[in-house]
Amino acid sequence: MKTTVRTINKLKSDGQKIAVLTAYDYSTAKYFDEAGVDIILVGDSLANVALGYDSTQKISMDEMLTFTGAVARGVKSAMVVGDMPFMSFNISLENALKNAGEMIKAGASAVKIEGCSDYILEVVKRCTESGIPVMAHLGFTPQYIHSIGGHKIQGKTLSDTEYILEQGKKLQAAGAFSLVLELLPEESAKYITENLDIPTIGIGAGKYCSGQVLVSDDMLGKFSDYVPKFVRQYANLKDSILNAAKNYCEDVKNGRYPDEKEVTHVNSQN
Ligand code: KIV
Repeated sequence: MKTTVRTINKLKSDGQKIAVLTAYDYSTAKYFDEAGVDIILVGDSLANVALGYDSTQKISMDEMLTFTGAVARGVKSAMVVGDMPFMSFNISLENALKNAGEMIKAGASAVKIEGCSDYILEVVKRCTESGIPVMAHLGFTPQYIHSIGGHKIQGKTLSDTEYILEQGKKLQAAGAFSLVLELLPEESAKYITENLDIPTIGIGAGKYCSGQVLVSDDMLGKFSDYVPKFVRQYANLKDSILNAAKNYCEDVKNGRYPDEKEVTHVNSQN
């Protein structure tokens, strides 16, 4: 059965945690779906981990659409959320709605939008009214890195936490169905989670959020340029890939690949 906003709300009201992972390609999305991941986010972290850009600000709407389509084609049941990249929702309401609509046409069932301003609240409201559910994103918001001044933990004081909660309440009132909280002290994320109706999805925000999200290349141990403190590595794909590629090179160079089973002859049956 397809996971929808209603399913996500029910997980929260039943006190069950929500498991979210990012994915960027068809096969990975297929396996995550089969494993029971509730939400697959095609995050703009794609810029760093799959496309090698040094900032998420460099990825385009067209690139996001290509990868969202690939993920959506691999998924049967999880909810696919397409991340709205930098400047894809900031220029005008019309442009934001058009781009959000493109995400849905590519196969997403919801979009994620970073930040909260009067303008963004209007975007969230208009998307929701148009049948495009919105996952909001507060705390550390990478698209605003130049204004924030680096990868800084947010909500370290009570007044900062109250401010984030106030923004969360506004986003909730505008129609956001969930809220990502990135890089917050656990106590702050707990306080915000307890004072919102919509589920919070934490990343580096402790265990009291309604769910957790990790960048798949981090949790699979594939991306190694930097590994944040909050990441738990459930696999070591970097070493698996390195070993597989080294073995392949050796086999090719020593004439061990292909062998008799792996070739076709003129008189072969198949
Ligand atoms: O782009 C992304 O992967 C994200 C998650 C880290 C929440 O925004």
